[in-house]
Amino acid sequence: MEEKKFIVANWKMYKTEEEAMHFLDKLLPYLQKTKDSVWIAPPFTLIKPMSDKAKEMKEIFTVGAQNMNDADEGAFTGEISASMLKNVGAKFVILGHSERRIHFHESSEFINKKVLRAEKEKLNIILCVGESFDENQEGKSDEVIDKELLESCKNFPIDSQSMLYIAYEPLWAIGTGLVATPKIIDEKSRFIKKTASKLGLDQIKILYGGSVNPDNIASLLKVKEIVGFLVGGASLKPETFGKLISES
Ligand code: PGA
Repeated sequence: MEEKKFIVANWKMYKTEEEAMHFLDKLLPYLQKTKDSVWIAPPFTLIKPMSDKAKEMKEIFTVGAQNMNDADEGAFTGEISASMLKNVGAKFVILGHSERRIHFHESSEFINKKVLRAEKEKLNIILCVGESFDENQEGKSDEVIDKELLESCKNFPIDSQSMLYIAYEPLWAIGTGLVATPKIIDEKSRFIKKTASKLGLDQIKILYGGSVNPDNIASLLKVKEIVGFLVGGASLKPETFGKLISES
């Protein structure tokens, strides 16, 4: 793995402002020691207070969002646009997470619209792809990844100023404690790079996500093809997340 790693926390629907500020206070000593880039994607309500805090702490960490709408603005009750995210300090957005694909029925076609909107707004993008347990067992992993990637990144400008990270997140590893082996991650990362190059996207970087924790990160760090991790459960407690940052 490259020298500088990206550790991205996906907080999902957890934490109040008070809890987030307490987390940051406790995480500070770890942040001060690490060479890694630490990115945090809290719920929408915390983006502004956390990016204000990041400014105060000399951008020692970066704040982003877990989702956004594809439209510029409009009558879309309950939705948040890319420009609104930027306005409150978000620097990146996670798109196509399997929890959005499954619980909110987001198709790759819809995710593609979001990807293109985020790109237009110059937000960095973390696009998630990955197969389910059944698809994996049926030997369809590559087919699923290929389709999700090609459809979600269609028409992405090759000279974009937004960084495009592809997170390989096999569904069977998310929140299950089952982590993909370094061999699988290496193979899938190569496959993702090959697929992305069909779209002319040779500059993409790869992250791995799925049950990453302080105990397994050392073995995962050996995978040269990835630049970092997308972390859910293990990012919620400052001691665990801090340990994870220290281990890498
Ligand atoms: P996990 O979640 O680390 O809890 O498996 C990862 C994710 O959902 O991005």
